[in-house]
Amino acid sequence: MSTLSGSIMEYETVALDEKENCVLIIDQTKLPGKTEIIRLKSAQEIWNAIYLLKVRGAPAIGVSAAFGIYVLARQIAGEIVGQSTRQLAGQFAGQITGQIAQHTAGEEKEAEFEAFYRRFKEQKEYLDSARPTAVNLSWALNRMERVCLQAGREGKGLSEIIELLHREAVKIKEEDIQVCRSIGEYGLGLVKPGDGILTHCNAGRLAACRYGTATAPIYLGQERGYHFRVFADETRPLLQGARLTACELKSAGVDVTLICDNMSATVMKNGWVNAIFVGCDRVAANGDTANKIGTSMVAIAARRYGIPFYVCAPTATIDLATPTGAEIRIEERPGEEVTKMWYKEPMAPEDVKVFNPAFDVTDNELVTAIITENGIAEAPFENSLQKLCRTQK
Ligand code: MRU
Repeated sequence: MSTLSGSIMEYETVALDEKENCVLIIDQTKLPGKTEIIRLKSAQEIWNAIYLLKVRGAPAIGVSAAFGIYVLARQIAGEIVGQSTRQLAGQFAGQITGQIAQHTAGEEKEAEFEAFYRRFKEQKEYLDSARPTAVNLSWALNRMERVCLQAGREGKGLSEIIELLHREAVKIKEEDIQVCRSIGEYGLGLVKPGDGILTHCNAGRLAACRYGTATAPIYLGQERGYHFRVFADETRPLLQGARLTACELKSAGVDVTLICDNMSATVMKNGWVNAIFVGCDRVAANGDTANKIGTSMVAIAARRYGIPFYVCAPTATIDLATPTGAEIRIEERPGEEVTKMWYKEPMAPEDVKVFNPAFDVTDNELVTAIITENGIAEAPFENSLQKLCRTQK
């Protein structure tokens, strides 16, 4: 763990330390007070970091999981190779002819892969259980598993498999940066200099790798002198808007105003908002969109005041296998996040019933457009999303 000073913009949300074989993340639970980089080595540390929102936001969760399973794969491979070398030495010491050695090597490789894959799969499933709503978690882990299985089918050895997993994990991160930039370009085309933009939760740099999704048009606009006025919803109960969005936009020099969640209708009614950009954790095939709890309320108010409501979604977050929002599993979190967290003393009666869903689903009819890296999808979303998901840039 290292505590750093300076702007949050100088640090990477998720990185890989090859030498120490661990994942490095900014511990987002410590922001904005402290910028602390922590190292994740074991499966439990990676799982906890995702579950406890030390790293959060759909794309950043995906990248962390890809790096995480790579780190674990290296550990598993190291243990298996160590074991089989010891076994082989004990079993055949002093009596291996060339023929036997060759045969043994082939069988040994297959057995090694089986042992490796069994443990890889266990760890993959464990990481996948950390949070249920953001599809990027299973999407990234499935990508890593496909690479592993393909390499196994091709009879590759463990060191080559590890190299391929490394390449895939790094690619997932690099793609995220490109994808967010492209979302930013499309999003920027929908607004004009001086506009007021409202956003909910944190779909920013801290939720992805560089530009964020909902913040990508804001950052690109900032580079090009658009002078947006941004309203950041604080986002109860975990305050991602206050602690993270306000923090990163302010560090980047963006004109940002923090509001409580129950003030968004007021700033819309006042005529201060020209467009809403939000991120998402999973988009169903019909365009229903799961995002941080409270997003749906923003969309309803936006419709009332005639403000366009844009969902920024990498195609990795579009889940065509889920027909509608009704089938999206919504994470429920401990009630203490509502009653106790952030307060010196509990702010609710002891043992009061609490309902604490982490996400809600915005109905597709409230969504003006879904902005992907491949272009902008409009209703009917069944067709437009399918087309954009097929598009290869
Ligand atoms: O619970 P969180 O903080 O992971 O929720 C994050 C969000 O809802 C984001 O808006 C979403 O993941 C998109 S991030 C680009």
